[in-house]
Amino acid sequence: MTDKALHKPLVFSGVQPTGNLHLGNYLGAIKNWVPMQDEMPCLFCVVDMHAITVWVDPAELREKTREIAAAYIACGIDAERAIIFPQSRVSAHAELAWILNCVARVGWLNRMTQFKEKAGKNRENASVGLYAYPVLMAADILAYRATHVPVGEDQKQHLELARDIAQKFNNDYGVEDFFPQPEPLILGPTPRVMSLRDGTAKMSKSDPSEFSRINLSDSNDDILQKIRKAKTDPEPLPDTPEGLEARPEAANLIGIFAALSGRSRESIVGQYAGAQFSGFKSELADLTIATIGPIRDRMQRLLKDKAALDQILERGADRAREITRPVMARIREIVGFLG
Ligand code: AMP
Ligand code: TRP
Repeated sequence: MTDKALHKPLVFSGVQPTGNLHLGNYLGAIKNWVPMQDEMPCLFCVVDMHAITVWVDPAELREKTREIAAAYIACGIDAERAIIFPQSRVSAHAELAWILNCVARVGWLNRMTQFKEKAGKNRENASVGLYAYPVLMAADILAYRATHVPVGEDQKQHLELARDIAQKFNNDYGVEDFFPQPEPLILGPTPRVMSLRDGTAKMSKSDPSEFSRINLSDSNDDILQKIRKAKTDPEPLPDTPEGLEARPEAANLIGIFAALSGRSRESIVGQYAGAQFSGFKSELADLTIATIGPIRDRMQRLLKDKAALDQILERGADRAREITRPVMARIREIVGFLG
């Protein structure tokens, strides 16, 4: 088997089982995965090893892992066609991460902005895992020699690093084309959904304010209240999309409306030109409830049968392991480990 013969189109992506899944995860990532299942083989991972880079309660980690799997399915991922599995159940991720730790350079990791944000002021006290996090992410992708990686905008820098690591491995070991250059797919009209409390900060699982995000588990009433209270500015809605510049909260709400309705920003701005936010917000709440409500209900139903979810995850891990087996055998050979 030549190295190039192993290359074939394959999608890999993942979500961390921490905090609450929110509208940003849905619109920026999971929603865009659904049509890909018809196009190429897909792996959708629950990245529990990434989750422990900061402290998480073990019982909560188990529950959240199932919750993400349930969310994938509730959003339209088919566990037969796509492979849904927990990262920790496929040891290739950890094994390859170590090898790639020895390929990646400290200077490269020092440039990662997410580490700086997550570690905050007390960087000395951050875990080594949090620092090496992007290398594990590169291993996730490269253990399958995945070619397409659909993610939200915040992951772009990590994807660039994965490409650099792949390239350096190929060069260092003289195996041109062994790893493909994984392509980031940053899709949809809202690759970056912003907080409902601050249009300049991204909607995030870790924001302490519940009013900053719409969770996939929110009740219809929660959704209504959060959108009603979403921060806006005192001006009426503009009559052109250019009028949204320098109005981050208005731009965010219009972007969410566009993503949920499948309509362009122009047509939405045209409809609401000069209007107050209240009428617009009530339509936006209806749209959000119409999308999130059925996902939430399906998720709740799926979460009632934990044994069934565990079985899906176990079978997914078996299928994922099968794909990594020949890739890892070849990597061990390339690096010089005894076979
Ligand atoms: P995380 O919540 O960090 O595990 O992210 C899971 C996926 O959701 C990744 O592809 C992220 O890029 C995407 N994502 C997270 N937050 C947002 C957001 N506010 N807007 C758009 N995409 C997001
Ligand atoms: N770091 C990603 C996030 O927080 C999650 C992730 C881990 C991932 N491994 C991945 C995404 C591999 C795409 C491919 O959003």
